[in-house]
This record gives sequence, C-alpha cells and structure tokens, in this order.
Amino acid sequence: MTVLVVGAAGQLGREVVRKAGATGDVVGLDRSALDVTNRDAVRSAVAVRRPSVIVNCSAWTDVDGCELDPARADLVNARAVGYLAEAAAEVDAHLVQVSTDFVFDGSPIGGELLPYPEDHPTAPLNVYGTSKMAGEVAAGPMATVVRTTWLQAADGPGMVGQILSALAGDGPVELLGDRRACPTFIEDLVPALLRLAGERVSGVVHAVNAGPASWADVGRAVAEVVGADPTRVVAVEEVALSPPRPARRPAWSALDCGVLRRLGHEPLRHHRDAVAATVARLTG
Ligand SMILES: NC(=O)c1ccc[n+]([C@@H]2O[C@H](COP(=O)([O-])OP(=O)(O)OC[C@H]3O[C@@H](n4cnc5c(N)ncnc54)[C@H](OP(=O)(O)O)[C@@H]3O)[C@@H](O)[C@H]2O)c1
Repeated sequence: MTVLVVGAAGQLGREVVRKAGATGDVVGLDRSALDVTNRDAVRSAVAVRRPSVIVNCSAWTDVDGCELDPARADLVNARAVGYLAEAAAEVDAHLVQVSTDFVFDGSPIGGELLPYPEDHPTAPLNVYGTSKMAGEVAAGPMATVVRTTWLQAADGPGMVGQILSALAGDGPVELLGDRRACPTFIEDLVPALLRLAGERVSGVVHAVNAGPASWADVGRAVAEVVGADPTRVVAVEEVALSPPRPARRPAWSALDCGVLRRLGHEPLRHHRDAVAATVARLTG
C-alpha cells in the first residue's frame, strides 16, 4: 500500500503517517504542502505521487468557528473532499474520508438512547456537522467513510492528561456530564482505519472505542486508575459553560460499530482500557 495522507499535521494525520510508515510507503502532506481547497494543487499532488490509498485527515474541526463561517466550513469539509475524490479516481486510488458523530442530532432511537448504526438517518445540529455530512457524500460511493467520536491524541496529553493535571491539585474537578459519546483513542482507531483502506471497503463504517461515556465518567475512570478519590469529579452541565458556545452539540452520539463486526474486524477495545494505557504512557 502506498499511502498519501493529507492534513498530515493534525492529531489523526500524525498517527496515520507514523503507523502507515511502519509497514509501507507513506507521504504525509500538511496544509503548507497541500491546501486541499486548491483543486489544481490536489490533482497534481495526487497525479505525481500515484498513491494506492489517500487518507483525508484534513478538516476544519473548530466546531464554533464553522458556525460563524459556513462557507469556509463547506469549502474545507465538503468541496475539498470532492477534489480529493476526483483526484483519487484519476489514479485508481482508494479514498478514506474521516467523518464525525456530529452528523447525528442526539435523539433516541425508538425512545431509547442506543448507539447509532451506520444507516441511521443523519440530522446534524450545527454547521460543522452539516459540512461533514456533505463531505461524506462528496467522497463518493467507492470511498470508505470512517465516522468516529471524541478523538484523543496518541502523542499528546489530551483530555486524560488534563484530567491527570487537575487531579494532581486538591479541589473539585469539574467536567461535562450531560453529553455522552464514545471517547476514541487514535492509537486504536488508526489500525482499524488502515485495514479498511487496505481492503478498499466502500461506504460508511463506524469506528470508536467501546463504551459510551461523558467526560465526567472519563474523569472518574482516570481517578480510579491513579488511586484518586473519584467523588472529586463533579459533573457540570453544558449550559453552565460561560460564555455559551455558538454551535449546538448532540447530547448523545455514541456509535454502533456494526459494519466493523460484519467485516470480521476486531472491535476497538473499551475506552476504559485505553484510558488506563494512556495514564500509563503519560505517567510512566
Ligand atoms: N477531534 C475530534 O474529536 C474528532 C471527532 C470526530 C471526527 N473527527 C474528524 O477526524 C478528522 C481528523 O481530526 P483531528 O482531530 O485530527 O483534527 P485536527 O487536529 O484539527 O487536524 C486537522 C488538520 O487539517 C488541516 N487542515 C485544515 N484546513 C486544511 C486545508 N485547507 N488543507 C489541508 N489541510 C487542512 C489542519 O491544519 P491547520 O492546523 O494548519 O489548519 C490540521 O492539521 C477530521 O475529519 C475530523 O472531522 C474529529
């Protein structure tokens, strides 16, 4: 597999470059090397390198920024995906597009909060989600669209590191308790993503660590791992955030990984195991 990673300086892009490079040929292009909104530059970067796989890790991920600038959100998160799909088709490369739980609105399924399956109707609440949903369509029917949630960097402190720092103090540790999804650790996501790429799987695939949680739940899990008092973690509600944020977010956006199961892929481990491994990495 020869892999071209665009958006290679982001938290996901860095790990895709690292893991793909361990087993094959990889070229990572950050925004300064390739601006994906430049259609001609995309076509020529792909035509010169002729990869077998393109992994699009570029996106405008500032959810509140997108709310204030829908045109830019659409350009980066949707139209540019179309440019990548077009360029990929010209060299028969397989495109992997990364998408988000924010394509869903958080409503229950049949009155119950169940993880969303891949074919659940999308209904984004904000501009970011709308632009990413358009990006899924722009990727085309042959691409793998990998939806994931609440990414945690493989090479940085992330939320687990922030929680560790807060627990090192004495006071209460306030964390959001009224939104739940599946905290997903990039070190676990990337092998799944690269396997899907190698198999040239078409369509939407959910890939998240197991176990829905709020950040307050994750805070208590970190406290248990380090032997701190979990009752120091205080769940706060999003409405208490000051100032209020421009973009609405779904209160529930856990994803069911049914397609991965049907493909016979190993499920991503429970997020609590990933939390423990991250604590060990950060404190070891
Ligand atoms: N983070 C999450 O919790 C989360 C959850 C679900 C899904 N996702 C999806 O996962 C993917 C990766 O996200 P991430 O967390 O790795 O985001 P990230 O750290 O913000 O990385 C995104 C990268 O895209 C680059 N980029 C922005 N505009 C570009 C352009 N016009 N041309 C080329 N590159 C451009 C950014 O470069 P600059 O920094 O220079 O702008 C940045 O390096 C995205 O598709 C995102 O929607 C993320």
